[in-house]
Amino acid sequence: MSSIAVIGTQWGDEGKGKIVDLLSDRADYVVRFQGGNNAGHTMVINGESIISHLVPSGIIQGKRCIIGNGVVVDPSVLLEEMDYLEKKGIDVSPEKLSISEKAHIIFPYHKMLDNARENSAGDKKIGTTGRGIGPCYEDKASRKGIRFAEFLEDQIFREMLKVNIEEKTKILTHAFSYPETPDFDEIYNTYSEYAKRLKPYVKNISADLGDAFKNDYKILFEGAQGTHLDIDHGTYPFVTSSNTVSGNICCGSGVGPKAIQEVLGIAKAYTTRVGAGPFPTELLDATGDYIQKKGAEFGATTGRKRRCGWIDTVVLNNAIRLNSVTGLVLTKLDVLGGIKQLKICTSYKIGNEITPYFPALVQNAAIAVPQYETIDGWDEDISSIRKFDDFPQSTIRYIRRIEEICETEVKIASVGPGREETIEIKPLFR
Ligand code: GDP
Ligand code: IMO
Ligand code: MG
Repeated sequence: MSSIAVIGTQWGDEGKGKIVDLLSDRADYVVRFQGGNNAGHTMVINGESIISHLVPSGIIQGKRCIIGNGVVVDPSVLLEEMDYLEKKGIDVSPEKLSISEKAHIIFPYHKMLDNARENSAGDKKIGTTGRGIGPCYEDKASRKGIRFAEFLEDQIFREMLKVNIEEKTKILTHAFSYPETPDFDEIYNTYSEYAKRLKPYVKNISADLGDAFKNDYKILFEGAQGTHLDIDHGTYPFVTSSNTVSGNICCGSGVGPKAIQEVLGIAKAYTTRVGAGPFPTELLDATGDYIQKKGAEFGATTGRKRRCGWIDTVVLNNAIRLNSVTGLVLTKLDVLGGIKQLKICTSYKIGNEITPYFPALVQNAAIAVPQYETIDGWDEDISSIRKFDDFPQSTIRYIRRIEEICETEVKIASVGPGREETIEIKPLFR
C-alpha cells in the first residue's frame, strides 16, 4: 500500500495540478476528495495547457480517476470538462473516471444563492468564485442536499428537487430580493439528461479504494484550494466551504487514516491569493507587480488577477503542522529570478507581540506586520535547469533556508509550468 497526498499550503494555486500530473505517471489512482469547480488546475504538456476543474489531474496520464464523496459536483461543468478532455484525445470513459454515489450535486439555485450572498455583503464580500460551492455544502450540512445516489432515482430526485426549489425560492425572494428564481421544470428536464449521461460513472468509491489498497496500487490524493482556505483552519470567514487539509482525505473519499503515507505540501516560492481576506506578506508595490506579471498570476477559474507577496513561513509552518507534511514542493522558483533581494517572513508582529503562529482573528491577521529575513536573489534564468546542483548558489541558499525554517525537506523544485521543468530532489513513489 502506498499513497501520496498533494496539498496546497497557502491560499490555493500553488501548482498542485502540475505536481499531480507529474507524479501520476507512477500512480494507479488519482482521487479528488473536496472542493468543486472553484478549483482550476493547469497542466502544461509539450507546450499545450490543459485546465481541469473537477476531473482529477491524473486523467491526462491515463490513470483511474475518482471524484470522491467530499467533492461538490456541478454536472454541467463536469460534462463540459469531459467533452473538452475527450476532444484532446484523453480517455474519460467509466473505466478511467468514477464519481462517488455520495457526492453532492450543485444546482442552479446554489449559484443564485452564492451570488445573492456576495451581492448583499457589500464591502464584506468574500470574493467567491460564484460557482455555488458554499450553498451546496450548506445544503449538505443542513441535510437538504441531493447526492448522486438520490439523483439517479427519478422519483426520489423529483421530490427532493421540489422541496429544495420551494425553500430556495423563498430565501432568494424574501431574504435577498434576488431577481431570478429557479424553475422546477427547466432544472428537472436538464438534470434528468445529465443523470442519464453520468449514471455509468457513479460507484461506491470507498469499496473501490479499499480494493485498490488491498492490491497494493499506488494512490495519489489531489487536494484543491489551500490550507489557508480551509473552513476550520483558514482565514475564516475568507475561506472556502470545505476542509482542504489532508485529514479530510479520509472523510472525503472513504478511506481510513492509515491510508495516507506521504503528504506533499505544495508551496509557491512566493505567495498569492485570489479574492478577499488577509494576506500579511502582500506586496502592493513594483515587486508585487513584477511577480504578478512574470508569474502570469491570473486565476484559472475566474481570470481574476492574483494578489502577490513574499513567501511566508508562518503560513508554511501552519500548513506543515495541520497536514502532517512530509515534504515540501517549491514551485515557480523561476519567477523570482531578477529580484535582487528576496524576503522570507519568519514571524508576525501583532500589536506589541511577536508570534510564529497565524492568528485566528482576521482582524489581527489584517494588522500583522511580517518580520522578514533578507536573502540575496539571483539574476539567472533558471527555467532550463534540470539538476539541483546546477542551480545558482543563491537559489540553493534560498531553498535550504526555507527547509531550515520549516524543518522540512524540499522534495521537488519546479522551474516552469511544463511537466519537464521540474527537479525531483528526492524519489517519490519509486
Ligand atoms: P493549482 O490550482 O494549485 O493546480 O495551481 P494553478 O494551476 O491554478 O496555478 C499555478 C499556475 O502556475 C499554472 O498556470 C501553472 O501552469 C503554473 N506553474 C506551475 N508551476 C510553475 C513553475 O514552476 N513556474 C512557472 N513559471 N509556472 C508554474
Ligand atoms: P485551486 O484548487 C485559489 C477562493 C476564492 C475565494 C474563496 C471562497 O485552483 O487552488 P468559493 O468559491 O470556494 O466559495 O470561494 O476561496 N478559492 C480559490 N483560490 N485557488 C482555488 O482553487 C480556489 N478555490 C476557491 O477566490 O476567495
Ligand atoms: Mg488553481
